[in-house]
Amino acid sequence: MSKVLVCFFSAGGEDVVAGEKNEVGNTAMMADAIVAKLKEDGHDVTSFQIMPKEPYPDSYDQKLVKATEERAMQERPEYAEDVPGFDDYDTIFIGYPIWCSDLPMIMYTFLERHVFTGKIVIPFCTHGGSGEVDTFRVVAEKAVGSAPEQGFAMSGELARQPGGRKQVYYWVDQLAI
Ligand SMILES: Cc1cc2nc3c(=O)[nH]c(=O)nc-3n(C[C@H](O)[C@H](O)[C@H](O)COP(=O)(O)O)c2cc1C
Repeated sequence: MSKVLVCFFSAGGEDVVAGEKNEVGNTAMMADAIVAKLKEDGHDVTSFQIMPKEPYPDSYDQKLVKATEERAMQERPEYAEDVPGFDDYDTIFIGYPIWCSDLPMIMYTFLERHVFTGKIVIPFCTHGGSGEVDTFRVVAEKAVGSAPEQGFAMSGELARQPGGRKQVYYWVDQLAI
């Protein structure tokens, strides 16, 4: 059975959709469901949260200002630590919140820094209503040489609910891994 990595960025904090402060972010909740399902199915799975070197503000408005600026400048924000033994994984789930109809720029840093040749890459994201926009295509394009699998997008609000967890389980079941 393949070695699976579930790596994700999740800012959490004040969520404009849920209208509350999330200690654990929506994407982290989705990642948790993916990991739980994979474990149930007997997969060898590791979870890794990409942490920004410079934390994002808690406030939604301030986060939006920073994210908009980073995107306008096409920045590549640094993250604190990289995945140990990245090359050992055959299947990689890549998760993130939709920011400004795009991936957060820190995900570009991550995608451009790794070699995905021969790996199965499966994107997932949470959003406030926009869906994945064009980001699954971007992930497939950036993960050069990988075999893209079907991604899954879910509203951040749903990701926090048992019904969302059920949908994640159903999606993971359909994957060819
Ligand atoms: C800076 C910023 C930009 C966002 N831009 C979008 C967007 O363009 N479309 C959308 O549907 N939701 C957008 N959202 C909402 C988030 O995608 C959503 O709340 C997500 O679930 C947050 O995930 P997290 O808790 O893992 O950080 C944005 C949120 C933030 C903080």
